[in-house]
Amino acid sequence: MIAEDFILKNYNSSVESGSVKWESPSNIALIKYWGKKENQIPENPSISFTLSNCKTITKLTYTKKDLSTALKVTSDFSFDVYFESEKNEAFKPKIQTFFERIEAYVPFLRDYHFKIETSNTFPHSSGIASSASGMSALALCLMSVEVDLGADYTSEYFNKKASFLARLGSGSACRSIEGELVVWGQNESTESSDLYGIKFDGEVHPNFKNYQDTILLVDKGEKQVSSTVGHKLMFGHPFAEQRFAQAHDNLAKLKTTLASGDLQNFVKIVESEALTLHAMMMTSMPYFILMKPNTLEIINKIWKYRAENISNVCFTLDAGANVHVLYPENEKESVLKFINDELAKYCQNGHFISDFIGKGAQLIEK
Ligand code: PMV
Repeated sequence: MIAEDFILKNYNSSVESGSVKWESPSNIALIKYWGKKENQIPENPSISFTLSNCKTITKLTYTKKDLSTALKVTSDFSFDVYFESEKNEAFKPKIQTFFERIEAYVPFLRDYHFKIETSNTFPHSSGIASSASGMSALALCLMSVEVDLGADYTSEYFNKKASFLARLGSGSACRSIEGELVVWGQNESTESSDLYGIKFDGEVHPNFKNYQDTILLVDKGEKQVSSTVGHKLMFGHPFAEQRFAQAHDNLAKLKTTLASGDLQNFVKIVESEALTLHAMMMTSMPYFILMKPNTLEIINKIWKYRAENISNVCFTLDAGANVHVLYPENEKESVLKFINDELAKYCQNGHFISDFIGKGAQLIEK
């Protein structure tokens, strides 16, 4: 499919008002997206586990503006944002940019006033990126408005366009529509697209069923490097080409590993990807160290635990100091004990969040 296939051509402009509500999860990348081209096209393919507990719930209420047709074209986007029941101005610029990017595909955006009421299941200042769950929830709400306005979509097209729109809000958000593993970015090994995320089409061994992700909150502060700035660091980066090629290679290896259930290989690929992401930030200009001392303490403890026990627990990182601890379901009891006994002390206020692989977003109310 090409971008033009996602333009809404006809809609019933006589619909006065309505509301829709979606919940959409966060996701954690195993092969990392880092570096993008124009229009949020990724420089390399990525694959992620969709999560279950960490999600955003968004209600979108739309009311027809009282404007003449001539005025509608020039009128600004009109929307209010409420975060956890309080009016929020801080999110507005991101949503304004999102609306500007998607307007060509969602032509009714200037016809309505939107009330966006949103909340997260995870604490606001946890340092967990809410852009993936937040932007995917909003994209899904807009897709449901399209349906309210008469669009007749198959669920496949609905999900693809939702992912396509979410990508224009925040790249990784396109991997949050479905579960359990989602690939984004053209590559040779899997069915894929640069424009939207696709449910991983390969075989997945039962070892990965209900895979666990406990998120250790090492640093709950604002991100030191926003992802907009971060992706730009790959532009002219001395190791960019090798890194992009490596992501393709790692995806092919991960595909084989997911099929065979080889957990030791899984650990190698996933940890190497996390460290490579951080290595890219350390070797860019300007350079950044996004890990904190406690991030390293945790990594070393995980390696020691693995050496001393029969365990396949491993870590991954996003562009920050928090650690995602990944492990098979059959190790849940022992690893949670290990986290409580030995890792919780490195988290801010001892805080961590237990999550696991999930099935994707859900319509809550129409
Ligand atoms: O979706 P963005 O633009 O916030 O970028 C996210 C990038 C990483 O989280 C570091 C990696 C990934 O693939 O999710």
